[in-house]
Order: sequence, then structure tokens, then C-alpha cells
Amino acid sequence: MNFYTSQNKLGILGGGQLGKMLINEANKLNISCKVMDPNKEAPCSNLVENFIVGDLLNYDDVYNFGKNVEVLTIEIENVNTDALKKLEEEGVKVYPSSENIKTIQNKSVQKNFYLKNNLPSSFFKTYDNVDDLINEAENKKCKYPFVWKSARFGYDGKGVKVINNIEDLKTLPNIECIIEDKISIKKELSVIVARNKRSQEKNFPTVEMEFNQENLVDKVICPAQISDDLNNKAIQLALKTSRAFNHIGLLSIELFITDNDEILINEVAPRPHNSGHHTIECCLISQFEQHLRAIFNLNLGSTSIKIPGIMLNLVGEEKHFGEAIYDNIEGALKIPGASIHIYGKKDTKPHRKMGHITIVNKDLNKAKEFAEIIRKSIKVISK
Ligand SMILES: Nc1ncnc2c1ncn2[C@@H]1O[C@H](COP(=O)(O)OP(=O)(O)OP(=O)(O)O)[C@@H](O)[C@H]1O
Ligand SMILES: [Mg+2]
Repeated sequence: MNFYTSQNKLGILGGGQLGKMLINEANKLNISCKVMDPNKEAPCSNLVENFIVGDLLNYDDVYNFGKNVEVLTIEIENVNTDALKKLEEEGVKVYPSSENIKTIQNKSVQKNFYLKNNLPSSFFKTYDNVDDLINEAENKKCKYPFVWKSARFGYDGKGVKVINNIEDLKTLPNIECIIEDKISIKKELSVIVARNKRSQEKNFPTVEMEFNQENLVDKVICPAQISDDLNNKAIQLALKTSRAFNHIGLLSIELFITDNDEILINEVAPRPHNSGHHTIECCLISQFEQHLRAIFNLNLGSTSIKIPGIMLNLVGEEKHFGEAIYDNIEGALKIPGASIHIYGKKDTKPHRKMGHITIVNKDLNKAKEFAEIIRKSIKVISK
């Protein structure tokens, strides 16, 4: 197929770290990008000529931003999907589709999608508001413990709570929500699948995610240390999910392995994902380049592992607010195979994702040892 580069080739809704890494790869292919984000100091703000400050949930802002680009994509799923639908009708290539974003941005709709498509996921119930849930619980219709999730606008584990009793329920905001069976999790995995318009599909190697107490990804281990059998099942389920969505672009599928070695879908994200940052150093193609290839309907690249690795998220330390300092960055740079990515967010706050470090090594155990050393040294603090 013919590929040419032009002005206004790609619009990206959201200007955070995912946008930044996507732009790095777009530069390689000479794809000019335009970005919209509500924050004028977002990580992408000084990377593109055409950076627009706008509300991602506002119809007019999204419509006006998207109407003169060739391909429109997202780096965050909380965007106005009515505007995206209108743009699709007018011929803009919107990938992922407005329909898929709409399904995924609401956890209640997303869970119903799994049910309808026979995709395994934990048992759940949906509620228009927490008062309805409390009513049921008072009538002893809920079995504790369970997991409560806000239907919309949850991210990085915010909007997820384990509920042990009725008192816990009374601390929740009165919003649309779901509850899920609390799964006994042996491991959390992620498989990222790319699909293009020609139905070519490629999955990245399965990774293992370890979380911290705030439900935030602490580290990603590539490849996942699981049996071949479980690995194959995880990949097959991820491919089946991406096909069910008829997805174009990247779909990141978060999975649970239960104590009985069952595999369940936790949730999906229709975009590059935190569990794929290591692909920049570890795989033959990065998730960001693969996303671009998928949405521009180019041949997808091989995702084979070049070298195993660990990705550590660098998040703001407790009690630190304000202009960010990366304390002891030199300590991390001394480690062989360590690459540091700093997102360029001006201010830090507790648990804010400020950067990440990928540590590659032919021996994954060695990478793990180095990761422990780095974890104890580098800290994101404020002035
Ligand atoms: N049903 C469940 N049973 C047990 N633990 C769960 C369940 N659902 C979620 N969790 C735990 O909470 C974490 C966050 O949940 P989830 O991925 O739904 O939230 P999120 O805020 O959308 O996350 P993120 O945006 O970080 O991906 C999961 O990775 C898992 O550790
Ligand atoms: Mg998640």
C-alpha cells in the first residue's frame, strides 16, 4: 500500500506520557501529530507544533480538534464518543472506534460485553448508584468481601475498593458502579494485541504485572514466568477478545490467573498501556510503533523478545507535592541495561506516574536483582 506523510496526519486525544512515547515513534515515520489535552503543561505540550488545550469530554472541543486530521487516536479512554461518532460519519478514521471506546469507558457496559461474547470474567452486578447497592446490602443480598468499582473515570486503581462490610459501602461516592466477586489471584498478566483493518493481528509476549498497595502497577516482568499451557491460554483469550471487539489498534488485555489456574479477563484498554512500556527496549517492535502501524493499516511488526526485562514505574513519593526532582538518578544510570524515561510532568504528587525505568538482561533473575537495587535508590520527590 502507498504511504505518504503530510500535515495533520494524526490527531491524538490526550497529551500524557503515552502520547509522548507515541509521538517519539511517529517522528520515526515522519507522521506529523496534533495533540489535545486539558493541561497546557502536559508532557506532549512542547513536542508538537500543534498542541491544543481543550476538554476531552466536551463535544465541540473534540469535534473541532478531530475534523481536519486523517487518523484520530486516543491515549486515554475518557473522551467524548458522540463527537468521535460524528467524525467517523464524516470520514475521519477514528481508531479505536467510538463504539469500542464507549463500551470500554464504562466498566458496567464492558463487563456486559464479556458476558454477551462468552469471554470469561468475574461474576458482577451493576448499580445506577451506591444507594441502590446499600439497599441490597441492608437486605442481606450481598456476600462479603467483594470488589466495588466506579463504572466510569477510574484509573490507576482509583475507583476500586475491596468491601468487607456495610460500613465500607457507606464511605463510597453515590455514583454508577459495579461489584465483582473478589478473585483469589495467583498472578496478574497482560497481553497486548494489535489488529489492523486487514485483520492482521499480532500479540506481544505475555507479561506479569506486580501491583503496590495503591493498586498501581509497580513492576512488569517480561516474559511472564508461567507454564506454556497458561501462556497459550492467555494469548488465545486475548486474541479472541480483540476479535470480538473487531478492534483496530492496540488492545491491552489485563488478565487474572486464579488460584485454580483459571484465566479471567479483568479489563481492557484500547490503546498503548503501562504493561507495554518495556517493549521499547525488550521487543523487536515497541507497542507505540505497532499501534501506529495498526491504525495506518501498515504491516504489523514482529513482537518477538530481543532481550528479557523488568519495567519499574517511577511514582511520586508520599508527602511530596510540587516541582519534581529525580533523586539519585545517577545510581540508576550506573546499572547496566537500565533505561530511564522521564515523562516531563512539572509537579509530583504521591503515587503520580512520573516516569519509568526498564532494566534489560539476558538473565531475567539478574534484571530482577538490578530492579531491586534501583527501586531502593531512585526517588521522585519535590524541591
Ligand atoms: N474482582 C477482583 N478481585 C480481586 N482483585 C481485583 C478485582 N478487580 C480488580 N482487582 C485488583 O485491583 C486492581 C485494579 O483494578 P482495575 O484494573 O479494574 O482498576 P483500574 O483503576 O481501572 O486500573 P488501571 O487503570 O490501573 O488499570 C487490579 O489490577 C487487581 O489487582
Ligand atoms: Mg487495571
